[in-house]
Amino acid sequence: MDIRSYNSKAWDNQVDSNNPWTIPVSPETIAAARRGDFRVLLTEQKFVPADWFPALPGLDVLCLAGSGGQQAPILAAAGANVTVLDNAPKQLARDREVAERENLALTLVEGDMADLAMFEDESFDFIFHPVSNLFVPDVRPVWREAYRVLRPGGTLLAGFMNPVFYLFDYDLAEKGEMVVRYALPYSDLENLPKERLQAYVDAGEPLEFGHTLTDQIGGQTEAGFSIVGFYEDRMRDIVISEHTPTYIATRAVKR
Ligand SMILES: C[S@@+](CC[C@H](N)C(=O)[O-])C[C@H]1O[C@@H](n2cnc3c(N)ncnc32)[C@H](O)[C@@H]1O
Repeated sequence: MDIRSYNSKAWDNQVDSNNPWTIPVSPETIAAARRGDFRVLLTEQKFVPADWFPALPGLDVLCLAGSGGQQAPILAAAGANVTVLDNAPKQLARDREVAERENLALTLVEGDMADLAMFEDESFDFIFHPVSNLFVPDVRPVWREAYRVLRPGGTLLAGFMNPVFYLFDYDLAEKGEMVVRYALPYSDLENLPKERLQAYVDAGEPLEFGHTLTDQIGGQTEAGFSIVGFYEDRMRDIVISEHTPTYIATRAVKR
């Protein structure tokens, strides 16, 4: 299966079914961001600490796999020059919608987070990468490419899944039962029983990969980043969150 093309259509489906990560922000949120009063999510519930942001006006920002009419227009309204790269045309259309509604300049690029060849080395000051690398089979190229396109001293904020999430049978976990079924690294394509995988594909659901912390955190440091900030967050309405945080956020600097 061509996973990039499959997940592109699957995320377009998420837009059609109003997944919360595809719903554009309100005019009030943009007006507040224009006054410098903004909050954005890298994970699901906790807002990114304000001191994780440099002064945004005039900064070249890449929202990496971060479309959906949310963070990119907020950062643009706060004064940054924002480029959004995403794999799903309908997700990018959400950002276009907000940009047109609010008269904001956004550069929209359809592409793969693992291949940023369309950008020169050292093109950006700041990369905002919300939880999305669960949709690629290999995260190492994502960190290497992010490092390459950042200017020295630039910052990468990344949200990603705590891999422990992928140990459990997800369908049972949704019903409140925790059953350890899988090992890490995890792949929907390779590890789901055939009929369960087929049911996800028939429903047009995005397919996911559970990366190890060696790939998530070690992958960033190996690419050259220094990690200078960390927090965890929890998914709503799922029993796993009663036992462990399910998301990790890191702040990393290109020295
Ligand atoms: C959970 S959404 C993240 C964006 C959202 N605005 C948020 O607040 O978290 C995941 C995004 O990753 C994008 N995506 C999935 N696979 C991708 C890939 N290979 N390259 C770029 N974007 C990808 C999806 O299209 C989707 O917009």
